[in-house]
Amino acid sequence: MSNNCAVILAGGKGKRMKSELPKPLFEVLGEPMLEWVIKACKNAALNDLCIVKGYNAHYIDEYLCGRYETVLQEEQKGTGHAVMQARKFLEEHLDSNTLILYGDAPFVDEATISAALEKHLSEGNAVTIVSARLENPFGYGRVIREENGISCIVEEKDATEEQKKIDEANSGIYWFKTSALLEALDEISPNNAQGEYYLTDTVGIIISKGLRAGAYLTPNPKVALGANDKKGLLQLNNVARMDIIEKHMENGVEFLCTDGVTIGRDVIIGAGTKILQGTIITGKTIISENCTIGPNCLIDDCIIGFNTKLNYVQAYQSVIGDNVKIGPFVHIRPDSNIKSGVKIGDFVEVKNSNIGEGTAIAHLTYVGDSDVGRNVNFGCGVVTVNYDGAKKSRTTIGDNAFIGCNTNLVAPVTVGEAAYTAAGSTITKDVPANALAIERGEMKIKEGYGLRKLKGRIKKD
Ligand code: UD1
Ligand code: CA
Repeated sequence: MSNNCAVILAGGKGKRMKSELPKPLFEVLGEPMLEWVIKACKNAALNDLCIVKGYNAHYIDEYLCGRYETVLQEEQKGTGHAVMQARKFLEEHLDSNTLILYGDAPFVDEATISAALEKHLSEGNAVTIVSARLENPFGYGRVIREENGISCIVEEKDATEEQKKIDEANSGIYWFKTSALLEALDEISPNNAQGEYYLTDTVGIIISKGLRAGAYLTPNPKVALGANDKKGLLQLNNVARMDIIEKHMENGVEFLCTDGVTIGRDVIIGAGTKILQGTIITGKTIISENCTIGPNCLIDDCIIGFNTKLNYVQAYQSVIGDNVKIGPFVHIRPDSNIKSGVKIGDFVEVKNSNIGEGTAIAHLTYVGDSDVGRNVNFGCGVVTVNYDGAKKSRTTIGDNAFIGCNTNLVAPVTVGEAAYTAAGSTITKDVPANALAIERGEMKIKEGYGLRKLKGRIKKD
């Protein structure tokens, strides 16, 4: 988009959020609203961005980490005042057009930005606002139309009863001819119910100068939705959540019930996979076809193969193969690679480990910093003792090994192929292939012990 640029307003106090955090940093589907807006700009090939920060600006700085140019609005005197702070940035783009966006309205998208620009250019407008017909326009500025086009925008608090009935709302997305914007900003005044410099007043000013103002009425009213309080934020999350679920359904993913199901925007899911209640899937997770995920799974940044079943599983930054069955109540921590055909049962934690094909870890086991071969069987209650208080060490287990119940494997240690460890053993030395390692005290029998105890108890009574 040539030399066009965008200014994103993120300086407001967001009083109604009742929070220290600037409103645009509140998250919709796990991503700050500000980031949604930035991504929309990038998708529309607008790379020259300026972000206006103000209220608790350090949070914005910490979040952006210097990725974009910012300007500080020291006092929050309204949206028009916020844009004035970007004057220098705007002056550098005097010959082009500027897109203005609000950081608390995350659903703006590339299609809207482009369609509005097209209208802006083809009509030769000095300003083109994006408007939307909303079922409940309460709180939004209303677009006032006259015979020969729009005349101004009136804020809810300044509107007459008649004007409040208008359902065409200002989305807060505008294309301006940069030079016209700068001139109009000089003329706005805080003569209104809120005592603020309204950006919306520039529309009337531009028209009074004999320049053209237009409105692009979007066919997708969702782009106008903004969050001013926690209730609005929940609404945005619900809208985004259901949009994504619907998209997956169109692709052949099955949902029997969507209660508690949240899927991030970048997640990819194959057809025939079922997502059950209470499942949250985030990050760059990729799930192949014919899996069952849920109920109650939390999956972040994982790659999951075909026909795999996860039930009450939390899994992070890991790879899980085909035909794997995990759960219930399993924690797969980062950097684990669980190969095809593995079975992991209840109360098992796996961390930074490779688990070979067909291996079974059925219950109550911790496998950390380990390289486990194929078709290994873990008995109940196995612990890899990977940390001595100072350093972490690895455990290696060969193919077809059998780790007896309640074995401690004190790392660094290797159990050879097809070797056995006896139940209850604490293994501190390597076990050769095909051997049995047994480490436990000799069992002693004390005849009559129980009887003597019982007699003592009876006497007391
Ligand atoms: C604004 C519009 C309204 C529109 C609605 C769409 C004005 C005067 N009103 O109202 O017509 O329908 O958005 O969502 O523009 N901000 C600053 N500095 C400030 C004040 C605000 O940076 O001094 C930023 C906020 O962080 C926010 C955005 O501007 O991201 C919008 O501010 P907000 O107070 O939410 O405006 P609305 O009352 O929603
Ligand atoms: Ca708002």
